[in-house]
This record gives sequence, C-alpha cells and structure tokens, in this order.
Amino acid sequence: MCGIVGYIGSNDIKEFLIEGLKELEYRGYDSAGMAVITDEDMRVFKAVGKIRNLEEKIKDFSPSGEGVGIAHTRWATHGKPTELNAHPHLGEFSYVVHNGIIENYKELKKELEKAGHRFVSQTDTETVVHLFEHYLKELNDPFRAFDKSVSRLEGAYAILLITKAAPDTVFFAKNGSPLIIGKNEKEEIFFASSDAPLIGHASEVTYLEDKTRGYCKKEQISIFDESGKNIKPDFKPLTADKELAQKGGFRFFMEKEIYEQSRVISETIMGRVKSDGVELEELNREFLDGIESIKICACGTSYHAGLSGAYLIERLSRIPAHVEIASEFRYKDPVLSDKTLFVVISQSGETADTLEALKMAKRSGLKTLAICNVDNSSIVREADITLLTRAGIEKGVASTKAFATQMMVLWIFALYLAQKRGINPQTLSKEIDAILHIPKLLQVKAGLHEKIKRLSKRYLHGHGFFFIGRDIFYPLALEGALKLKEISYLHAEGYPAGEMKHGPIALADPELFTIALMPKNLLYEKIKSNVEELSARDSTILAISPEPFEIADDFIKIESHDHYMMEYFEMMLVVQLLALEIAIRLGNDVDMPRNLAKSVTVE
Ligand code: F6R
Repeated sequence: MCGIVGYIGSNDIKEFLIEGLKELEYRGYDSAGMAVITDEDMRVFKAVGKIRNLEEKIKDFSPSGEGVGIAHTRWATHGKPTELNAHPHLGEFSYVVHNGIIENYKELKKELEKAGHRFVSQTDTETVVHLFEHYLKELNDPFRAFDKSVSRLEGAYAILLITKAAPDTVFFAKNGSPLIIGKNEKEEIFFASSDAPLIGHASEVTYLEDKTRGYCKKEQISIFDESGKNIKPDFKPLTADKELAQKGGFRFFMEKEIYEQSRVISETIMGRVKSDGVELEELNREFLDGIESIKICACGTSYHAGLSGAYLIERLSRIPAHVEIASEFRYKDPVLSDKTLFVVISQSGETADTLEALKMAKRSGLKTLAICNVDNSSIVREADITLLTRAGIEKGVASTKAFATQMMVLWIFALYLAQKRGINPQTLSKEIDAILHIPKLLQVKAGLHEKIKRLSKRYLHGHGFFFIGRDIFYPLALEGALKLKEISYLHAEGYPAGEMKHGPIALADPELFTIALMPKNLLYEKIKSNVEELSARDSTILAISPEPFEIADDFIKIESHDHYMMEYFEMMLVVQLLALEIAIRLGNDVDMPRNLAKSVTVE
C-alpha cells in the first residue's frame, strides 16, 4: 500500500525523505517519487520499481538551506505503475502525494478538464493538485484553496501538498488513511503514514483525526476540522527505541497485530468492494475464461485460510474448489487439468513447498493466482496474477493479521467468481453488507480481551485441547488449535465437530478441553448436539457463541450477527486472543516460539 513522508526544515531533506520511504517499504509498492522546494529550486523525481531506482535518479541532487519536501511510495490502484502515474503529481506550480482512493475523481476530472486543466496521468490523485490550483486562482489564498479542494473529495485520503505559491508550507489533509505529524527541538516538522520513519527524528508526534486538514511551516502547525474550527494538536512523546515504538505499547508484536486487524482489513477491502459489487483490478476478465475448477495449495495458517476459502468459493460461485497442503501435493503425482485455476496462498511469498507447487502447476500449463502479503516475493514473481493481502509487515511468528486478510481476499474472490457467473442481487448485497461490517467488528473490545485474559488461567494444563467446528468453522477450529499449540506448546487439535464420535471422543474427560465454535447462523443445532455429547462424557467445555449455552463450563459471548462470516471473524479474534493469553501466562516468548521460523524457505 502507498506510503507518505514529508519534511519542513533545514537539515538534509533528501536523506530524511528517502530513508523515510525505506521504512515504509514493507507496505508494498511499485514506484516511488519525491518533490522538494528550496529557496533555489523546485524539483521532482520519480522512478518505477524499487527505491534504489529513485536513489539513482537523485544521486546528484543536493538541496541545501530551508526547504519543504514530500515523498511517496505508490501501490497502483488507478493506472499502471509508470513514472507518469507515480506521485508526486504536478499541476502548474504545485505537487501532491496521496494515499487512499478518491472515489469521485472521475466527476472532478471532467469538471476540471472543462475548465481547461490538462491531465497527464491515469490516477485519481492528480485531480487534487488541479483542484487546488483551480481554487487558488479563484480565492487567492493557498490554505482556503486547499481547504475547499479537500471539501470536494469523497473517499479515503492522506494528502500532502507543496506549492510555489507558498514555498515554505506543507498542506495536509486526512480521512481514512493514516497521517502523523512529528516535530523536534531543531524546528523540523515531519509527516509520515506510520511512526517508523519518524523514530530518531521527531521527539513528539500527533496522530491526525479523520476529516482534519491544515498547514505547517517553520514553528507553525495549524490544524482544522471540516467546519473550520481550529484544533489544538495533541502531541505525545515518541520513543527513540525502534523496537518499542514498533510494538506501540503492546506486550508482543502478535498482540499488536491482532489489534491491527481492523485497520489492515479496511486496506484489503479498499477499492475492491463497492456498494454494488466487487472489483479486482488485478484480474482481467479473460483470465478466468474456461476455468471449471479451482485448486488451492498452501501451508500452515495459509492452508487453513485456503480450506475456509474453498467453502466460500463453492457456496457462492458453485465452482468446485479443492485444497491441498503444498508439501503433500508436490510428491503425489497429481492429476492436473488446464481448466483448473491454481491458487497459492502465502503470507511471506517465500515458503519453499508452496513455491515449488506453484512452479509445478505452471509447468503443467495451469493458470496461476497468488494470494500473498509480500510484494515482489518469489511467489508473487512466479504467479501469473497476484492479489495482495495488504496486511503490512507481520512480525509475530504466529500469523494473525495475515490470516484475516487472506480470508478477506478469498471472500472477495469468491464473490468475484459468483458475480462473473451471475449472482442473485439480494445475495450479493447481503455479502457486501457483511464484508463492510468486518473492520468494525474486528476492533478489539476491552471487555472481551479482559474476559479472555481472566479465563485463560483455567486452561494452562490438561492433556489436550480439541477445537471443534462445522462447515467453514472447521478450518477456523484448525487455525485456533494451531495458534494455541505453536505459542503455548500445549497439545491442541482441530476437528470437525461431527467427527468426534468416530474416535476422538474416547479421549473425553475433565482434563480434555473442548473449545466449541458455535455460530448461530450455520448448523447451530448440529454443533450443539456434538458439544452435548462431549459434555456428557465430562469434557470441559469452553463455548464461543452468540447464543447462551447452559451446559458450557465457560462461555465467551460474541455479538449476534445475521451472517455466518461475521461470526467467523469475531470467533477468529477470540481464538487468537485465547492462544495469546494462555501463552503469556505460561511465560513463553509469543513472538518467537521455539523451533519456528517466520519464513520457511526449506522444504
Ligand atoms: C502459523 C504460521 C505458519 C505459516 C506457514 C506458511 O502461525 O504462520 O503456519 O502459515 O509457515 O507460511 P506462508 O503463509 O508465509 O507461506
């Protein structure tokens, strides 16, 4: 996803901007650029590909003295990754960088073209700089022109704009996409999309609220709300310790990443889900022509996302979908047909077994699609097409936000397939409505976390855990068990609830803990009787459900929803937090569990 940095001051502008962009590299990008105004000059540089290509272009540029600068890494949403489409975008005398999506840019562009503005890129962002210059002519006041431009924008944005009309000033606006302002004792002012570029530079930061806009120049930071009311910025000290800052006050990266799920999943959805349907720009329509079935291949948590995705694909699009563990698939001499789309799922994009499975499928002439979190990884480079999950860097070895975003991409992809085959409009609208509720529902409520923290003390022993669920909640049970075992080192298994009586129920006794995923919207009565059977054999039951369940020994109530996927995502949060709290109580290093590596590049 795009990243923004900005600077006002007299130290090395170029150095701060380029190093800042590097800190944001993990977000994924396909081009980069910067614009700088100093006493002497106004310069812009852009390059496609890696930041080192931009560095090459600026190697002879050495701005000096007071100045302002803005820089950007672009992850293409509107228009291909070319230099023309890279930010900053230029009007006649101003530059803009932007994260997010301007939803009404087509109308604005038409209006501006009529007024004589000439556009050179295919981006939504370019409208912002033209709007600004248009209103500047009318109002003759740079901030009023900027403010009026921002009030015309619909969608999500974090914007920085610099202009020759006010060469010592950076104008900014924020709605939906993150934007932070930092300052220090050396009278420097910094801007960035996350803390990382500011550490070591800013001593204090303020996190802008949605719908705010304003301007900064030396010794002046002015912030306004949309009604024009001046807002006193709330500056907080920024730690100089990178690791501490990156943990953002959480005990472990895993905890932070669980809390980030709400935000990153909004990025997964952004530009892909509209009120009337889903869009996947990465896929051209012909790509799926002739496809009659789908084979999904992955390892570990990504495999669990794949299993869940197959339920969604079959249920929504009626296209047969099968899932295989990559290490098994590779050596089984599989029968492959070129009417099958081969989908691999991977957080890192480097997992050796998944990568090899992908190569095998390609050699057999199958079309391939990767669902991946790391742009430019080996899997992304190998696949015909990639849907990036946009989770941001995941540091905890136990995958959480990567899983959540994989699930979201799979859900959107399933709907995309369903749309292509013709989906009932009511079903489509119900699915979209549910998708749009997920970011809010993933916000961790203090009460829920506290309850799980308290409950966790009862689950530190025993001879094992069974996570059980039915239908798509079965792969979620597998994932819950994997989360628990990898960080707590307790034995846990995921099982389809209906399968317990075919053997595993023999283990039931009070020291066998059953974590039951009991959604109201999918097979509730069926799972209820499976859990009753276990309870009758004295297994200790922890039920997770919106419905109260009298015979449960412990109960975690989730909200009542009318779509099973909303229950799925909320239960995902619960099983992640449960694993985390049990592991913390056991004194384990949650982020770096024994024997495990984040990226498994050997088979
Ligand atoms: C578990 C976990 C692993 C990975 C697996 C595949 O929390 O993270 O099971 O899911 O090693 O890795 P990726 O998704 O990078 O291919």
